[in-house]
Amino acid sequence: MSKRFYITTAIDYVNGQPHLGHAYEKIIADVISRARRSLGQEVFFLTGLDEHGQKVQQAALAEKKNPQEYCDALAVDWQNFAKKLELTNDDFVRTTQPRHKEFVQATLSKLNDAGQFYKASYTGYYSAKEETFLTEKDRLPDGKFDASYGEVVELKEDNYYFKLGAHQQWLIDYIEANPDFISPSYRRNEVLGFLKNNTLEDLCISRPLARLNWGIPLPFDKEFVTYVWFDALVNYTSVAAAHGDEIILSANKNLQPSTSNLQPSLWPADIHVIGKDIVKFHAVYWPIMLKAMGLPLPKQILVHGFWQKDGARISKSTGNVVDPIAIINEWGVDAFRFYVLRELDIGPDGNWTEAGFRSRYQAELGNGLGNLVNRSLSMLKRYRNGIVPAKSNELAADAAKAADETRALFQQSQLQSALQSIWCLVNRANKYVDETAPFKLAKDPAQAQRLDEVLYNLAESCRVLAVLLNPFLPGTSAKIYSQLGLTGSPDKLADATWGGLQPGQSIGEPAPLFPRKDV
Ligand code: MSP
Repeated sequence: MSKRFYITTAIDYVNGQPHLGHAYEKIIADVISRARRSLGQEVFFLTGLDEHGQKVQQAALAEKKNPQEYCDALAVDWQNFAKKLELTNDDFVRTTQPRHKEFVQATLSKLNDAGQFYKASYTGYYSAKEETFLTEKDRLPDGKFDASYGEVVELKEDNYYFKLGAHQQWLIDYIEANPDFISPSYRRNEVLGFLKNNTLEDLCISRPLARLNWGIPLPFDKEFVTYVWFDALVNYTSVAAAHGDEIILSANKNLQPSTSNLQPSLWPADIHVIGKDIVKFHAVYWPIMLKAMGLPLPKQILVHGFWQKDGARISKSTGNVVDPIAIINEWGVDAFRFYVLRELDIGPDGNWTEAGFRSRYQAELGNGLGNLVNRSLSMLKRYRNGIVPAKSNELAADAAKAADETRALFQQSQLQSALQSIWCLVNRANKYVDETAPFKLAKDPAQAQRLDEVLYNLAESCRVLAVLLNPFLPGTSAKIYSQLGLTGSPDKLADATWGGLQPGQSIGEPAPLFPRKDV
């Protein structure tokens, strides 16, 4: 059975409202999903929420709510947020769902039966804020722990550990043999450097009930709940199992084999999109967990950078935040989607400024794309009564170049570069208007045929742009199609081939795509 292109995002802690960083990651995954669908692939896009663990328990406690009720209330906001961003996710996982909890327990049982865990007592310095024990290596030169760990206390406790050390060399070899496994390459080099210079300590996969009860109980010892990261990472497989994925179901005899599986399989994931702060979990722990589970590894871990605002860390406590919902309400979702992907390539860190956002809105969306479409279609309406003239190929090569580059860049998830290629066509077509001056041609009856050529090239460029832009700006791209009088949907990259617009066809009503906002 064929396999779907399976892409995931990190699942967000549901301990507050979504911010710019969360939005950015989800938009990356959505654009890749839409791009792959446009390329003709079947896609399964998963996002969702990480609801267990200390962070969420503490947040619930602070509001005097029971954690489940707290999560249920916030999950509504987060799901609405996914809609607001116009994500085309195929499922939305919440780690408190029974389908996930049961799968985590089945996985734990399997690994425990296979002798992957052992119980041991440990005394160490514990950061509740980061939910982690710290070692001597974590101390600053002055002997203290970094303030980011919050209060650090000495703690002795029994726990279950997952044996990692035995897999260290295997993982190094795997990463070296698979250069695309961790992208960009500097993140891959960091992981390799870490693995080569440190001995992996075993991973503590439990938390004693006495310290934390908001988690999935260990199936083999009711005195413990599952460590939140073990629980969270497993979402990528629990949801695939819920959709009947054969590879996952047959790897675990504790799971019910599916009886009615008619869907193409999912596992292994093609891309896990994550931020740079959680690389170790995805590129070290997760591969080893999968190996122990008898499952193949994801094809790629795609790591994006962090957004700052006005050069400082985004932080609720200092009020230095960007509220994506407010931006979208004011400027439209497409402007927001465009800005984050055009401004920041997948990898480095970025900086949000109001001025930067406005400037790209005005220059690239308003004066660039919006103006091109509006003047092209308005002139076609005015000079030719909205009837598409005979075909002409003057901009065909420019359009083909943009389409070819976009196709190749989509296959490599190079979204910022794809936008740059697409804007080469926007700029070329705008320059073409200036060069050919159709408003002058229209005054001279002897130039009627030349005007026809120019108007066809412009309208057809707009159509091609709608197709290329569809993954990024779905609403805008649909508007361009309808202003062109086209009924279909611009969602197949194959339709970017020059000459799709048929002579004799009537266009619709031109209307500004990105209204000016300079008052
Ligand atoms: N719950 C874990 C992930 C579990 S995945 C199995 C988590 N949650 S989080 O809410 O803290 O972060 C979710 C995602 O948002 C992460 O990929 C993180 O890197 C990303 N971002 C959080 N703040 C960010 C910025 N300021 N900028 C860009 N992305 C950021 O970690």
